[in-house]
Amino acid sequence: VEGNSIYEVIGGHEKIEELVEAFYARVSKHPDLIPLFPDEFSEVARKQTQFLTQFFGGPPLYIQEHGHPMMRKRHLRFPITPTRRDAWLACMKGALEEANIEEPYRSAMFERLTLTANHMMNTPDEKG
Ligand code: HEM
Repeated sequence: VEGNSIYEVIGGHEKIEELVEAFYARVSKHPDLIPLFPDEFSEVARKQTQFLTQFFGGPPLYIQEHGHPMMRKRHLRFPITPTRRDAWLACMKGALEEANIEEPYRSAMFERLTLTANHMMNTPDEKG
């Protein structure tokens, strides 16, 4: 079942960990995202590693520990504006490059993550 998953072809667990590390290094410095996150990223990074593993066709690690992902619902307590969506995706784009994920997988991953990030928006940007 996992034979041709993106997870496997990009390099499995090690590559996802590299991606997640590069991602939160950026998030932790991004002015639009800092206010939403705790000072310490190890727990969210651990969960993101589990989530992205299953999202890209690897073992269902997130669901095993946390149940159904319900990502939109889990994000409702954070005001996710279009600006923050863009910031999240910019961090992810940089991380996909830093982790040296090859094409066509890099673009395929970014496209899927863009759809999910769009779905996570729950608050309009402030006017003015
Ligand atoms: C958790 C922000 C999009 C996956 C979180 C947290 C924040 C956040 C603030 C909680 C950190 C904490 O534990 O205190 C955002 C913002 C997004 C976004 C601003 C912009 C669109 C996404 C997307 C995905 C994702 C697209 C998946 C592809 C996760 C996961 C967690 C998480 C797996 C951990 C959930 C848990 O607690 O089990 N996010 N997120 N997020 N986010 Fe996002």
